[in-house]
Amino acid sequence: MYKHIFSSVFLAIIGTSSFAQNAPTIIPIETRQNVLVLQTDKENHLGITYFGKKLSQATEYKLIPSQSRQRDGNAGIYNSAYTPAGTWNVSEPALQVTHGDGNKSLDLVYVSHSTAKENDNVSLTSIVLKDPVYAVEVTLFYKTYFQENVVEQWSVIKSEEKKPITLEKYASANLYFIAKDYYLTHYNGTWAKEMNPEEEQLTAGIRVLDSKLGTRANLYQPPTFSLSFDKPATETEGKVLLGTLAWSGNFKMEFEVDSYHNLRLIAGINPYSSEYPLASKQEFKTPSFIYTFSENGKGEASRNLHNWARKYRILDGEGTRMTLLNNWEATYFDFNEAKLSELFKDGKKLGVDLFLLDDGWFANKYPRNSDGAGLGDWQENVKKLPNGIGYLVKEAQKTGIKFGIWVEPEMVNPKSELYEKHPDWVIKQPQRPEHYMRNQLPLDLSNPEVQDFVYGILDKLFIENPDIAYIKWDCNATTFNPYSAYLEKSKQAQSKLYVDYVKGLYKVLEKLRTKYPKVPMMLCSGGGGRVDYEALKYFTEFWPSDNTDPLERIFMQWEYSYFFPSIALSAHVTDWGKQPLKFRTDVAMMGRLGYDIVVSHLNEKDLQFSQQAVTNYNAVKDIIFQGDLFRLVDPKKNDYAALMYVTKSKSKAVLFSYLVGNRNGDGSDTPIRLEGLDASKNYKVKELNLYPGTKSAIKEDQVYSGEYLMTAGFNPVVNARRTSVVLEIEAM
Ligand code: GLA
Repeated sequence: MYKHIFSSVFLAIIGTSSFAQNAPTIIPIETRQNVLVLQTDKENHLGITYFGKKLSQATEYKLIPSQSRQRDGNAGIYNSAYTPAGTWNVSEPALQVTHGDGNKSLDLVYVSHSTAKENDNVSLTSIVLKDPVYAVEVTLFYKTYFQENVVEQWSVIKSEEKKPITLEKYASANLYFIAKDYYLTHYNGTWAKEMNPEEEQLTAGIRVLDSKLGTRANLYQPPTFSLSFDKPATETEGKVLLGTLAWSGNFKMEFEVDSYHNLRLIAGINPYSSEYPLASKQEFKTPSFIYTFSENGKGEASRNLHNWARKYRILDGEGTRMTLLNNWEATYFDFNEAKLSELFKDGKKLGVDLFLLDDGWFANKYPRNSDGAGLGDWQENVKKLPNGIGYLVKEAQKTGIKFGIWVEPEMVNPKSELYEKHPDWVIKQPQRPEHYMRNQLPLDLSNPEVQDFVYGILDKLFIENPDIAYIKWDCNATTFNPYSAYLEKSKQAQSKLYVDYVKGLYKVLEKLRTKYPKVPMMLCSGGGGRVDYEALKYFTEFWPSDNTDPLERIFMQWEYSYFFPSIALSAHVTDWGKQPLKFRTDVAMMGRLGYDIVVSHLNEKDLQFSQQAVTNYNAVKDIIFQGDLFRLVDPKKNDYAALMYVTKSKSKAVLFSYLVGNRNGDGSDTPIRLEGLDASKNYKVKELNLYPGTKSAIKEDQVYSGEYLMTAGFNPVVNARRTSVVLEIEAM
C-alpha cells in the first residue's frame, strides 16, 4: 500500500502522462540508411519491432508486427527495449535492481520521449521509462550520427526511493534482431597475440563475451564484435552490425538466440562482483554501446565507424600524427644521457618528428633498471639522467627533434617508495598474499587522493617541461585481489571498485585534457590490453600489440581495422620477425609510423631506404589516416594480402600488398579488383618504397581508367621475390 501511495506522489511530481494508452507509440531511431523501431504494446512496455534498412515511408513502421508477441499471445517477452528483472519478463535482464526495502522486482513502462537535434547530423532521442510501483526511472538515450550510420546508446538510471537501491545489473543497450541466422565474429588472444577472430553461428541459448580483468580489461578479449544476419557477411556483401562498448573495464555482452530464433543482445558493464548502490536522487549513467549497420558488407560498416570515430570520438581524429623513434627495443632499461643524445641524432638522421623515451627513466631508492622495481617513483633516476628530463628535451630540440615520454601512472611495484609510503593506495586483499602481473599492482583509482597523485605525475612533467610533445601511457597489470582500502574507510561498498576505478581513470584523463587538450597520447596496455572508444576520447592513438612481427601485424591490424581507423593505430618498425626491412616498413606504414630499432646498426642501403620511406610516408600519410579503407584480399584466406586507402575525392589512393603464405610463393598471379576509385577518372600507378637497387615491375607511364582498375583489376605482382609492394595511385 505504502509503495502505491509513494509512487503516485513520485509520478505527480515529475508530471508524466498516464501509463495506460490506446494507440501504440512508435519511435523510429533513424540514420541515413538504417532504423531501429521501438514501439509500445498495450501495457505500455517498450519493445523493438524492427532493426535494419530504413523504409522511405516512416508511417509504415506501424505495420510491422512484434514477432514474439504475435506468436506468443503474450506481451513482448523477448523484444523488450530494456528488459527489467523480477516481474512479468523472465528473460535475461538489462536492468536488475534491489530496492531500498529489499524487494527485487522491477517493471519499466513507457512515459515519454523527445528528440533534440544537436546539429544537422547529430540527434539525441531520450525515452523515459518508469516503474509504476517503485520510484525508479530509466532514460534510454540513442544518439544518432546520421551520415555515418552510427548509433551511440546508453541509459541513465535514477532512483527517488528514500533508501539507496542496488543496481545488480545495468546494461547500456538491449537490442533485438530478427533474421534467419546469426553469425558472430569475436576476438580472443593474450599478450602479443591480440585480435584473433573466430566466427561462429549462434545457436539457442546465451553466448557471452566478457572480461573480469579490471585494469587491463581487454587482455584476453576486446569489447568489439561483428554480427552478420542471415549468412556470414563478406567485405562487400551481407547484413552486418559492428558493435563495441566504450568502457575501459569489465564488460559483458550477451547474445541470446531465443525460443523463436530471434536474437537478443545485452551489452554493458560486467555486473560480476559489481553491485552498485545508488542513493536517492542519484543517477547512474552507463557507458555507450556504439554500433553501425550495413546491408553492404563489412567494408562499408567499418568505413562508417572510421568516419564517425575520426570526426566525433578519437582525440584529434581529423588531424595528423607524428612519426617517431622509440628506444624500448633498442635499449630496454639500459641507457644514459650520452646514449640518448646519440639516439636523438639517429632519429634526426632517419627523418622522424619525435623521439619517445620509454620505460626506465625514473626511481632512485629502487631504480627502474628492470620491471621488478621503481614503478610509482616518478623522479628522474639521477644515475642515468643526472640533468633530468628538462636537459633531454632541450638536447632533443637542439638536434631538431621533439621529445616524448613513457609513463605507467596507474601502477606500482611493491619495491618502490610509493608502496612503502602508501600501502593503502594499492589494490590488494589485506588478508591474502599479493598476486602480481609483471611484478606490479594497480593503484586504487577509486580513491580521490590517488586520482590526484596520478594526475600530478603528468601535470608535474608538463609544468617542468612544457615542451614534452608526446606521452605513451601504459598499463601492464590486470586487477587481482580486488579490494579498496579507501572504499572500506569511507564505508562504501567494495563492489563499487571495478566501476569506480574506471570512473576515477576518466576523471584523471578529463582533468588532464582540460589543461593539456592537444598533446598526443598513446594508449598502451602491455600491447592491446585496453583499446576502446571511451579511452580514445582522451588518446590520439593506441598500441595494438607488443608483437611487431610484420607478418603477425598484417593479420592483427586487419582485424583492428574493422573497428578503428588507421590514424589511431600505432605501428612500429622493429627487429621482430624474419621479414626484410622493406616488408617491416611497409606494414608499419599502414598506421601511425614509428621505429624501434638501432638506427646505427642499419647498413647504408637500409638507412637510405628508411629515410626515403619516412619521406614517402609523410607524403601519403593523410590518405592513410583520412581516406576510405578497402580490404581487398584477405590474408586469412589467401597467400597474399591487399588493402587500399582512397581519399574522399577519389583522386589519390595507396595500396599495400604482402606475401603472407609461402607454400608456393606464387603471390598475386591474378589482378586484384581495386575499389573506391572513380570509374570515370584516369589514374597512374607508381610503386613506392622501392629498396635501393631494385626496379619496379610496374609501368609508371601507363594510364588506366578507374573503371579498368575496378573491373579488370591490377596486379601488384607480389611474389617470393617481391614480398611487399606499396602503390600510389593518382588521378591525372
Ligand atoms: C609494455 C609496453 C611496451 C613497453 C614496455 C615498457 O610492455 O607494451 O611497449 O613500453 O611496457 O616496460
